[in-house]
Amino acid sequence: MEVVSKLRKLHVDVHVVMTDNATEFINPLTFRSISNNPVTVGMFENPQNWDIRHISLAQKADFIVVAPATANIIGKVAAGIADDMLSTTIMASNAPVLFVPAMNFKMYENKIVQQNVSKLISLGYLFMEPLSGLMACGTTGKGRLPEPSDIIDYIINTFDKKQDFTGLKVLITAGPTKEAIDPVRYISNHSSGKMGYAIASAALKRGAEVKLISGPVNIEKPCGAIISNVNSGMEMYEEVMRQYKDCDILIMVAAVADYRCLSVSDKKIKKSQDNLTISLTKNPDIAAELGKVKEDRILVGFSAETDDLEKNAMEKLKSKNMDMIVANDISKEGAGFCSDTNIVKFIIKNGQIKSLPIMLKSQVADNILDEVIMMKKII
Ligand code: PMT
Repeated sequence: MEVVSKLRKLHVDVHVVMTDNATEFINPLTFRSISNNPVTVGMFENPQNWDIRHISLAQKADFIVVAPATANIIGKVAAGIADDMLSTTIMASNAPVLFVPAMNFKMYENKIVQQNVSKLISLGYLFMEPLSGLMACGTTGKGRLPEPSDIIDYIINTFDKKQDFTGLKVLITAGPTKEAIDPVRYISNHSSGKMGYAIASAALKRGAEVKLISGPVNIEKPCGAIISNVNSGMEMYEEVMRQYKDCDILIMVAAVADYRCLSVSDKKIKKSQDNLTISLTKNPDIAAELGKVKEDRILVGFSAETDDLEKNAMEKLKSKNMDMIVANDISKEGAGFCSDTNIVKFIIKNGQIKSLPIMLKSQVADNILDEVIMMKKII
């Protein structure tokens, strides 16, 4: 009730949907008077207008908050079950959905509930962590509803992010590089470009001017970015060096080949010998070169590791003079190359380390930009 009342004070148009179980605790009339809007409970109530109520509510909503979110509603949405007004509305909406779980701590810890939470997070649903403490059932543990003011802050912050990059120019590298061996073959890696493109899209949404220097990828281009397509590490280096001066923030996501062929054959190499040796030479380290000339620009790098994640990432942060490195352990399922999700740690120049749970690359992107904008404010 307090959440609805606070939102109303902020002049938000709030429509309350209640489950049958919720009406056992609170009379719908109470919400009607606080929200100043009709409250919907049943799927087949007398319609106010000739619309299909769950569809019209779903389309009208800019944001859906499920508070308290029980194990039941989390489980239903995770399983794709839509059998009442709340679950059908969630299912029929494109709006961001925030679940605020509150339940007995044993239920919250239950592996099925946790799997459902992880599944929904990986699908882009938002979650607030429950608080620890004494619960209505008399037990103590993690399962209490967060303070209403924190729920309001979360909602506002999600909206408020919108234009905080206005006036800032962001240069992003993304995707793999291809190092030619001959006219037919090349050396490359598994980068799909998804992580870098997600950062480009998020920065564009938040008002930035985005320059994206992309290796060869096969994904949709972020609408509004100025894109330079390159193939090799050398081409990417030259393009970055040509463009960085005009930018405030440099985010190096590309998986640049560390080595290129010393000489590229202009004819297809024939398989005449049993063994073939190709001599490689080092590519320029773009991030390290930027570290030398960045001045007050913010430089963020990535670190793809299979072992000693923090130690290796920390070394790269220092040796390349970065402000932050986003470390991903690419051996973990749901992290690194090609997947829609990532599991990352932020290793920040001031010594702070922040670990994020598995989330969509679009959400990782927004978290990175949150850190960057904080640094920008401090500088
Ligand atoms: O594209 P996706 O499929 O979404 O996958 C995302 C990703 C796994 C590619 C991404 O999350 C990631 O980890 N990118 C960096 C991969 C990498 O090459 O890391 P590295 O440890 O080799 O390099 C460290 C940093 O230096 C990176 O910021 C890299 O862009 C930069 N670098 C490296 C070599 C080089 N010659 N020039 C560089 O600028």
